[in-house]
Amino acid sequence: MTGTLPAVAHLDAIHRLIEAEMEGLPVEEHDPTKGLPLQVVSFGAREVNAAMECMVTTWVTMGRRVYDFEDQWARYCGCTQGVMSNSGSSANLLMLAALVETGQLSRGDEVLVPAVGWSTSLFPVAQVGLVPILVDVEPDTLCIDPARAREAITPKTKAALAVHLLGQPADVTALQDMGLLVAEDACAAPGAERDGRRAGSMGVGGTFSFFFSHHLTTCEGGITVFRDPVLADAARSLRAHGWVRERSDREAHVAAHPEIDERFLFVSSGWNLRPTEMAGAMGQEQLKRLPAWIERRRRNHGSWCEMLADTPGVTVLPELPGQVHASFAFPLLLDAEIDRAACMRHLESRGISTRPISGSNLARQPAFERVVGARVGGPLPVADRVHTHGLFVGNSHAFGDGHGLLLKDALEEFFRG
Ligand SMILES: Cc1ncc(COP(=O)(O)O)c(C=O)c1O
Repeated sequence: MTGTLPAVAHLDAIHRLIEAEMEGLPVEEHDPTKGLPLQVVSFGAREVNAAMECMVTTWVTMGRRVYDFEDQWARYCGCTQGVMSNSGSSANLLMLAALVETGQLSRGDEVLVPAVGWSTSLFPVAQVGLVPILVDVEPDTLCIDPARAREAITPKTKAALAVHLLGQPADVTALQDMGLLVAEDACAAPGAERDGRRAGSMGVGGTFSFFFSHHLTTCEGGITVFRDPVLADAARSLRAHGWVRERSDREAHVAAHPEIDERFLFVSSGWNLRPTEMAGAMGQEQLKRLPAWIERRRRNHGSWCEMLADTPGVTVLPELPGQVHASFAFPLLLDAEIDRAACMRHLESRGISTRPISGSNLARQPAFERVVGARVGGPLPVADRVHTHGLFVGNSHAFGDGHGLLLKDALEEFFRG
């Protein structure tokens, strides 16, 4: 890559054209008479100009913009190390693989995983040779239930993967108090906090997704954060072919293998999960927007919970005391006698987009039997309820009370029949 800058006049002109073209983006205020979508467009000219600058300067592969974003994101999370990748799923894979690579976990160790989560919260556990054990979730957070986790522990259990589901922070401390090493899937929970600790910094590592529909986006993208540089170095090799180039201890590896050209010196059995430089450039612009956007989502979450508190037939999940809920989306649990599919159809007919709650009970997904070694670590009644009667609607920094009222009206209309 050359990185040669074109004439500045052209770059300025491109910037101005993009600013004109993207006026009004990102969407900061959404009109509730237009419905309640899952998300709004969350990037604008600043992000596109930053990404475009990489392309016109021809520096498109992972470089300075990615590294700077990694530092900024790690600091935001209260960590020191960030390893960006091409998705949140890859970030999970890298986090778990780094734990095995460095010997903090060994192949065959059991890892407790919440039964309700995303598919690629679960799959990477087995993909790196660990044994996932599904544990039920708490009814008020839908995150892993520490009491059920304790019951599932065997002499082989070494770790837990805490998924901060839909932005609600899981009780990492309770899992750590059982002597478990805890890794965090915070892919839908940037900015979430529990007992004063920010998501990603509570455990041994944490992951985030920058897919289009998430709080922030780099189109596709993800990042793994650590406080331990040894884990970060392992993840950096695993991310890029297994080579040493981005490791902080590169010189030591090079010195140990003088017979091999350092440019192609491979020390781990890795993948290629790198992000593009455009993703790093977008991420830096997106991060500036995050604190205000989290506050807005959190406020919506609180006021929508209040609005729906007396609506019969539904249970909402308010933020618990001492926590910051990042509110990726707004989950609802319907009463047992209610037909969820009919309710979702009704909401959609009123312009309210719906989804099941992530992968719901992952033990009931057909893929579960393909997850090598995985088993269920106890009864899963809450996960089952989520599976049959859970749903979520969108939340966003661009929504407000009008969207909560739309949801309340639509639900009450459905329940009145
Ligand atoms: C909890 C959780 N983990 C992992 C992922 C995967 O992220 P990505 O779509 O960036 O691969 C998601 C995606 O929504 C998620 O919600």
